[in-house]
Amino acid sequence: MTKSELISVGSGKGGTGKSFFSYLLGKTIANQGKKTLLFDGDLGCANLHTLCGLEKPRFSLSDFINNKSSLKEIIVKTPTENLFLISGASDSLNVNSLAFTQKRKLLHHLRCLDFDSIIIDVGPDISHNNLDLYSAADYKFLVLNPEQVSLENCFRYLKAVLLRQFSFSVGIKKSKTLFGEELAAPFQAVNDMHQYISDNNKEMLGSFRTIFNETEFYLVVNKTLSGQRNVAEDFKNIVAKYLTTNINLLGEIPFNLQVMDCYSKGTPPDIIPGVNTKVEEIYSIFQNIK
Ligand SMILES: Nc1ncnc2c1ncn2[C@@H]1O[C@H](COP(=O)(O)OP(=O)(O)OP(=O)(O)O)[C@@H](O)[C@H]1O
Ligand SMILES: [Mg+2]
Repeated sequence: MTKSELISVGSGKGGTGKSFFSYLLGKTIANQGKKTLLFDGDLGCANLHTLCGLEKPRFSLSDFINNKSSLKEIIVKTPTENLFLISGASDSLNVNSLAFTQKRKLLHHLRCLDFDSIIIDVGPDISHNNLDLYSAADYKFLVLNPEQVSLENCFRYLKAVLLRQFSFSVGIKKSKTLFGEELAAPFQAVNDMHQYISDNNKEMLGSFRTIFNETEFYLVVNKTLSGQRNVAEDFKNIVAKYLTTNINLLGEIPFNLQVMDCYSKGTPPDIIPGVNTKVEEIYSIFQNIK
């Protein structure tokens, strides 16, 4: 079995540019001669095919979830050489809340595909589906916008991701016994939670430290305007202080009206000066620090 490098792209807020970045990242990697798969993990509002310049594919994730096709059968070629796509679900009713076993099957089959890189474009909210798809990747990217609301949502998302990983690592039942249904809701900062665990169940401290101190995230700030404050540094510091987790800063992508123009025309955002090269730079920084 070949092992693909799994990259997930999340944000905790709609419209920050996750799909846009996923597409350009996929294209950048494919242009380096690596066989790359874009996986539209937005289970309910799939639109990556449009960014790739494709009509809605005949087969989608729904066919796999409903046991009608294998994952391999629903892969389509995109106009970019080496770049392939699995289109998101077309009937949100069936796939919006996947059972645990379905998710495990999906992730197992995804990892078995013969690709160098797989990029998962994750939906915006903090549903269990999204958190689990996002967490399953080897490399977790965050796409933030330089607005307070985006920072707050991204922080909440990160906290939810880490808590979900923590409850998996100690066992969902055990974590519910200790914290109740609303896992860690009463805790403002992770230090308070650490103290609570230390007082009530020391056995969990190892998992706690592993998840919060060792999970790495890779941050991209999208839609920046010149003269704006550096939100990436601020975000990194807040996350280090309140979640004790490290954020790797990869860079910024400027706001550019041509991106919106491509979206409204339904054409791929392929040649936008100062945007595509930024994504190439970001990927190269990522490769140096990963
Ligand atoms: N760098 C940019 N400059 C200008 N507009 C941008 C930029 N990046 C994304 N956009 C615009 O932002 C909108 C949202 O982009 P996109 O669909 O990629 O976000 P998303 O995070 O995937 O959203 P959702 O959570 O709904 O899936 C689009 O209309 C797109 O044109
Ligand atoms: Mg999207």
